[in-house]
Amino acid sequence: MADSRKHLDKTGEASSASEPVIENRRSFLGILLGLGSVCVGALLSVPLLRFSLFPLIRRTTELKPSTVGEFSEFSSAAEPIMRTIQIEQVDGWRKTVSEKAVYVTKNNQGKVSVLSSICPHLGCTIPWNKDKRQFICPCHGATFNSEGARLSGPSLRGMDLLESQVQDGQLLVRFQYFRQLVADREMAG
Ligand code: FES
Repeated sequence: MADSRKHLDKTGEASSASEPVIENRRSFLGILLGLGSVCVGALLSVPLLRFSLFPLIRRTTELKPSTVGEFSEFSSAAEPIMRTIQIEQVDGWRKTVSEKAVYVTKNNQGKVSVLSSICPHLGCTIPWNKDKRQFICPCHGATFNSEGARLSGPSLRGMDLLESQVQDGQLLVRFQYFRQLVADREMAG
């Protein structure tokens, strides 16, 4: 410090050479400070961004379980019963409720299952034909037995089985969409 003052006092040349050095140090410190502020700001903004964008970036394909009805009503049924269920879907900040038809069926051992009514061929709704005791698709004639197994027609697989459970005496089902025109059941979306 004393040295630098000596130089300054002695000649004008010495004092004009040290000024740019001090100026450079100041600007270097300024850049460092600026970079540090940007980094800290970026780090702090990540959780805020994640919080505000969460509804947009989370998966929307998962649907909540829907109530089908009293389980006892289905356990004694002699043929498939159609029920309309309400499906709640959250898409970003928007919540939509739609309705879908499902069939509750029972196999020879008395096991109750829930089938989607959407045809695995091209997506038509399949009705149960009481007289023929078959599901017969009205669009291209695919047929399925009472448990949804494929019998004939263009569909490459049987009707789609939905995940179901019994809770407090109520039959619940998780509706899913499946890919059409493929032999194996693959979730869509
Ligand atoms: S949509 Fe069902 S057979 Fe084509």
